Amino acid sequence: MTLLRTTNIRAGYGDLIAINGISLEPSEGSLLGVIGPNGAGKSTLLRAITGVVPLKSGSIEWRGEELGKLTADKRARKGIAMVQEGRRLFKSLSVKDNLLLGAFHAKRAERAAREAEVIELFPPLKNILGRNAGVLSGGEQQMVAVGRALMARPSCLLIDEPSLGLAPIIVDEIYEALPRLIETGVSIILVEQEVGRVLEVADNLIVLHEGTKVYEGDGEEFRQNPDALTAVYLGQTVTEGDAA
Ligand SMILES: Nc1ncnc2c1ncn2[C@@H]1O[C@H](COP(=O)(O)OP(=O)(O)OP(=O)(O)O)[C@@H](O)[C@H]1O
Ligand SMILES: [Mg+2]
Repeated sequence: MTLLRTTNIRAGYGDLIAINGISLEPSEGSLLGVIGPNGAGKSTLLRAITGVVPLKSGSIEWRGEELGKLTADKRARKGIAMVQEGRRLFKSLSVKDNLLLGAFHAKRAERAAREAEVIELFPPLKNILGRNAGVLSGGEQQMVAVGRALMARPSCLLIDEPSLGLAPIIVDEIYEALPRLIETGVSIILVEQEVGRVLEVADNLIVLHEGTKVYEGDGEEFRQNPDALTAVYLGQTVTEGDAA
């Protein structure tokens, strides 16, 4: 059964339409990369899936069930988790407490097990569990942000621009964790502006421009021909006929 399917979804803020009719159906256990320039609607797409931004039209199905007007919290309990752009940690709380907040519905033993999994995925967190999130480096904060989302044991993890503002070596560390997560059965939708990064890990890719999907394709094909993707991204070869 399809994990997630959006059909022609439109959403925005007040009168502004930020995403205008986007349909996607990521394969379960795969990584879908979403790229596009500033303001293309990438974050709004993720927010519409989590239920933070309401749909103006279209539908979102989760395991065959229409999500409709389900609140973000109910969707989270069904297994949809998001790592927001800019990390958004509780800066006065410790790393450990930030992680635990991601699993507040779970029983104590279960929370401990999940915490151990997150530390296995991001070993640098082990020695800073007691530190305030506010004093962490950007890379550490990003690991905590991803870790917190994973504490809910999601089936689908939405990640918004994890590389933003981080040194390349730290970004490597975050990206190395993604295929390992996929192996555990988590499906990922990854938003980035850095095309090359997404290309390394994406099974499939979509390109957004001004709220619409202008291209979609297979990650492997784009890896064979990265120039084609750059051209699409820059809007150079996007014509009516190319539009997916
Ligand atoms: N909270 C908001 N209130 C009003 N308008 C918003 C809000 N968030 C985004 N927008 C607008 O919606 C459109 C899409 O924005 P969105 O943040 O989804 O784009 P994005 O692709 O994530 O961009 P970026 O790469 O800069 O993060 C833009 O025109 C933006 O100005
Ligand atoms: Mg964004």
